Amino acid sequence: MKDFTLDNLTDVVTEAYTKNTASPRHAEIFGALIKHLHSFAKEVSLTEQEWFEGIQFLTETGKKCDDKRQEFILLSDTLGLSMVVDAINHPKGGKGTESTVLGPFYVEGAPELESGSNIIKGDGDGEVVLVTGTVSDADGKPLKGAKLDVWQTASNQLYDVQDPNAPEWNLRAKIKAKDNGEYSFISEKPTSYPVPTDGPVGRLLSAAGRHAFRPAHLHFIVSAPGYETVTTHIFVDGDKYLDSDAVFATKAKLVTKFISSTDEKLAAEYGLPTPFCRVNYDFGLMPA
Ligand code: BEZ
Ligand code: FE
Repeated sequence: MKDFTLDNLTDVVTEAYTKNTASPRHAEIFGALIKHLHSFAKEVSLTEQEWFEGIQFLTETGKKCDDKRQEFILLSDTLGLSMVVDAINHPKGGKGTESTVLGPFYVEGAPELESGSNIIKGDGDGEVVLVTGTVSDADGKPLKGAKLDVWQTASNQLYDVQDPNAPEWNLRAKIKAKDNGEYSFISEKPTSYPVPTDGPVGRLLSAAGRHAFRPAHLHFIVSAPGYETVTTHIFVDGDKYLDSDAVFATKAKLVTKFISSTDEKLAAEYGLPTPFCRVNYDFGLMPA
């Protein structure tokens, strides 16, 4: 019998997890995971006490998760891992709209609303904004049957699912674009907000001396039959956190101007006083 040693453990464990593994992809992932986990522990000469604290941290992360709170997504996001996965799967340089993180606050099943709807469900004390644009293919041809799942924080810096006083589905909807690809809805101008800091991820951020803020943004999942769905944001130009997003998810092409508009015709069409805040963003989808 041979002893397991620091020198042979990684090879022995890798073999145990790869040699009889039915799926070649599983073998590849298990092998790389073991290699990097072992080399991480060796590189920092991990103490038993430190590894125990690491296990406690992961345990707390799991315990903080429920159907409204996803601390593991937050951990992946704040460590930049979500954006590594995004960059691998959605390389830059294509013609379609760039993607970014989903984040932990997406909720499936938002009400489907016609283009032009108002998604402010409560008294909403944020600045009203008219959001307009088109969904087209990468060459600008409007896409029929496009839908835009949208969600954002309210002026109190909270998503509806974080705020027990928020009306259900406040500032969330699945907007059906018109047949000519145009979409519009009325919402509130988003503000920058901190990711949740009352859990283990908050302690990680403060141990690293990092702030918890995300630059103001609207979330979108844009889809159309026959095209690749894109999960993305539009960011408010000028936000002071654009260069230090807590989750590393900003991209220059997603930053856009929210302007003050005096367009009387649009104001009358949407029942808005002038001047009103407006943003226009055109999405491009790639064939599936
Ligand atoms: C968000 O934008 O909703 C978000 C993304 C990543 C972590 C926390 C929040
Ligand atoms: Fe967000």
